[in-house]
Amino acid sequence: MANLTDEIKKRRTFAIISHPDAGKTTLTEKLLLFGGAIHVAGAVKSNKIKKTATSDWMEIEKQRGISVATSVMGFEYEGYKINILDTPGHQDFAEDTFRTLTAVDSVIIVIDCAKGVEQQTRRLMEVCRMRNTPVIIFVNKLDREGRDPFDILDELESELKISVRPLSWPINMGAKFKGVYNIYEHNLSLFKPDKQHVTERMDIKDINDHEIDEVVGHDDAQKLRDDIELIDGVYPQFDELEYLDGKVAPVFFGSALNTFGVKELLDCFIRIAPSPQPTQAVERVVEPGESKFTGFVFKIQANMDPNHRSCIAFVKVCSGVFHRNQYYYHVRSDKQMRFTAPTAFMAQKKEIIDEVYPGDVVGLPDNGVFKIGDTLTEGEKIHFKGLPSFSPEMFKYIENTDPMKTKQLNKGIEQLMDEGVAQLFVNQFNNRKIIGTVGQLQFEVIQYRLLHEYGASCRWEPIHLYKACWIESDDDEALEAFKHRKHQFMALDREGRDVFLADSSYVLSMAQQDFPKIHFHFTSEF
Ligand code: G4P
Repeated sequence: MANLTDEIKKRRTFAIISHPDAGKTTLTEKLLLFGGAIHVAGAVKSNKIKKTATSDWMEIEKQRGISVATSVMGFEYEGYKINILDTPGHQDFAEDTFRTLTAVDSVIIVIDCAKGVEQQTRRLMEVCRMRNTPVIIFVNKLDREGRDPFDILDELESELKISVRPLSWPINMGAKFKGVYNIYEHNLSLFKPDKQHVTERMDIKDINDHEIDEVVGHDDAQKLRDDIELIDGVYPQFDELEYLDGKVAPVFFGSALNTFGVKELLDCFIRIAPSPQPTQAVERVVEPGESKFTGFVFKIQANMDPNHRSCIAFVKVCSGVFHRNQYYYHVRSDKQMRFTAPTAFMAQKKEIIDEVYPGDVVGLPDNGVFKIGDTLTEGEKIHFKGLPSFSPEMFKYIENTDPMKTKQLNKGIEQLMDEGVAQLFVNQFNNRKIIGTVGQLQFEVIQYRLLHEYGASCRWEPIHLYKACWIESDDDEALEAFKHRKHQFMALDREGRDVFLADSSYVLSMAQQDFPKIHFHFTSEF
């Protein structure tokens, strides 16, 4: 067996996040190309649902199939084992992305140089900030006209609320784009558009080297020198510890499509990005180097084959080594379990694996036992934190349309909620079931899957709600008084916790004002 400390040190587990179309899929593919995990560009299918096809069922099914294959992509590069955890591009699946972010040690954010910071990037960055996740930013599509790089840096700081430090710098953009100067390693890469091959680098002594003038022309060389001087004057020296604390984000420029500026990013990434970090459990902090295995389920993926109701549970290994055929303790059910066919994810292949190390993800076949957030250990009763549900933003009553299939419907709803597809609340006033989601698409997915996987049919009925929030108070009397006053708007979540259903932002802010002893929470973890 390999040495545990060495295995941990060489691992880098991260996610690439972006607003749809900024170039996440393209960058992922180019990283795999460097790792030799794929040999031609175009091999990684985008797992996004094209905007034009939001209601196309085949597209959704295809997307689910593709995302099993590309959920986790592992590859080796320069002696490192790199795991990219994929996140769904479509914003209606934002909750999946939030959960995936709990299983990574760092993040690369892709920005389109013409569009700057877009809405979804802002939201995802909030989650990174909550967890102090180290962030590297890749400004993409430099082969096209975009905004001035200094303006982009300002926008990154103000919109993403993080300090930035450029570690590479472009020489022009669009048609005049000539290359990037690598501030981190002091060399220059000249731009040659090429989708398949990696651009050669040119070694220079320093920024004043005359060779720069020869290859990019005197004016551009001088502009580059001025820019670098300005950068060194405005931005403090890059501090690795500040990056690891999530306080400063190094910024790289390039063109993923042309495999340009990507190697600079990757080489710096393996050097500075954190290896597997300690994980916070309710009871204690778990260090990756502990000899005993622990891990948690951060994602459940339903099987494509409707005849077999089996899923894959994605378990992030937090400490120790996971072994095939060994008994592990499933904390929530208080049962021992053994896995004969755990799968590893290398490139786009799934294969059975005997040993899995911290930072890696292991796929466990699941027939409805696992729930998002479940912990597996060698016997210790611990619960990993950090998989909050967010207050949903869209709500509908779910109604059974086939009374003969009530049992199937209830089972289907329970299992889909375990998978984390959406959230279920039961209104205490009329006892009706309410499904809360972050996007319209989830309702369609649920209805479709209930029918195709459980043989149960349902209908949606509108409910006018603004937000559901969890409430609690140290003062029992105040809590009872609130629940009495708002009894028509009180619901329970699946854990039996009190949830207030506010029908407008006005009602919510009035309630917060009128009931100061009640705490209103917008994520399920408080
Ligand atoms: P996403 O996963 O973040 O949604 O983005 P994706 O990589 O799918 O890229 C979105 C579009 O941007 C794609 O074009 C892709 O080819 C293009 N793109 C990515 N990187 C660059 C770049 O460096 N320069 C330029 N000019 N374009 C880039 P598409 O037309 O939507 O898709 P496709 O038909 O090319 O696959």
